[in-house]
Amino acid sequence: MRLARGLLFVVTVATTAACRQNDDPNGAEALLAEARDDDYRAWLRAPGYEERRPSSAPHSDNVEIFVNDVVEDALADDGLSEWPVGALIVKDGYTDDGTLELTSLMQKREDGWYWAEYDADGNALYSGSPDICVDCHDSGSDFVRAFTLP
Ligand code: HEC
Repeated sequence: MRLARGLLFVVTVATTAACRQNDDPNGAEALLAEARDDDYRAWLRAPGYEERRPSSAPHSDNVEIFVNDVVEDALADDGLSEWPVGALIVKDGYTDDGTLELTSLMQKREDGWYWAEYDADGNALYSGSPDICVDCHDSGSDFVRAFTLP
């Protein structure tokens, strides 16, 4: 009985932790598919990321960052205190030999940022509001690390 209860505890903790890190894999994969259909690699490149350049984060060796039209419009604005709802930023991470390794994205929703990270095949590794993403991005400009609010 004690063993069973211990096991239940372990299973519950493991499931909760897994949930927090990847609580919406299907939604995340659909969102990436939409961005790919929309040809996100043809979107505006993030300020300072006009070319592929080394990452200063656990986002592969080199990164390319693209922003959707909501971010593009916001960048032309002035004195914003947060990124508008609908903002979508997609980042590809490549190894030094030029192989795509990871894609990450963040989308601003009514209830805050939605986060996701994928392997090269588009499988969601993280999704929802994973502590690992939020904690490190907390120091950013409304959570964006690569560039600042206008
Ligand atoms: C240890 C810190 C750290 C962690 C953990 C981290 N990031 Fe980042 N992230 C950065 C930094 C720094 C950048 C700026 C670009 C670069 O250097 O790669 C960045 C850039 C990004 C960008 C481009 C927009 C921006 O904020 O600059 C996205 C999208 C992104 N990260 C998503 C994620 C997701 C999703 C996770 C969790 C799976 C995550 N990040 C975890 C530090 C981190």
